[in-house]
Amino acid sequence: RIEGAIFDLDGVIVDTAKYHYSAWKKLANMLGFEFTEKDNEKLKGVSRKESLEILLKIGGKENEFSEAQKEELMDIKNSWYLEYINKLTEDEILPGAKELILTLKEQGIKTGLATASKNAMLILERLNIKDLFDAIVDGTQISRAKPDPEIFLKCAQKLKIDPQKCVVFEDAAAGIKAAKLAGMFAVGVGSCDMLGEADIVICSLDQLIKELK
Ligand code: G6P
Ligand code: MG
Repeated sequence: RIEGAIFDLDGVIVDTAKYHYSAWKKLANMLGFEFTEKDNEKLKGVSRKESLEILLKIGGKENEFSEAQKEELMDIKNSWYLEYINKLTEDEILPGAKELILTLKEQGIKTGLATASKNAMLILERLNIKDLFDAIVDGTQISRAKPDPEIFLKCAQKLKIDPQKCVVFEDAAAGIKAAKLAGMFAVGVGSCDMLGEADIVICSLDQLIKELK
């Protein structure tokens, strides 16, 4: 029986992917190359550092910057990203997300948040949903990024629930992989071709909540 539900943040609870995309695109343009929406798929669920490495590779610039310069590039990208995040409102919570979490809680299921983002606390505050979660693990608390299962195992540990009794909601291939490696039931939120390894794929949390009713 499922005792815990663990949610990814970006792309599952709030559509921040478009803001990440705008900021990365701006950085690519600054460095003199294009960055498409298709390229952006590769950055979903991936850490900030790894995202930069992927982006630089796309531009053929993977060997051009020192570690210190890469830190600067990440800071620039994040400052652009934060311009959007500072304007986030509760209206941007994805349809069904809040309802699903509240429904699960009513049924006695513990809820967790597991996100690679280091901006998670700010996002949760802007959306006013911090209290919905019994445990939160964000990018500041982990040493290995998804697809490593560390983040989900840590979240289950905080919830005091056996990983096998947890279900994960994820929109990124790397996140699905991490959930499976953690021994959890993985629900892909999005399209089937990108989330092939998931146990089931749903279009949106809204679809799921309607089916539960
Ligand atoms: C999430 C997003 C990724 C992002 C990562 C780090 O996993 O899906 O696109 O790169 O968080 O986010 P941060 O807010 O720390 O830059
Ligand atoms: Mg995500």
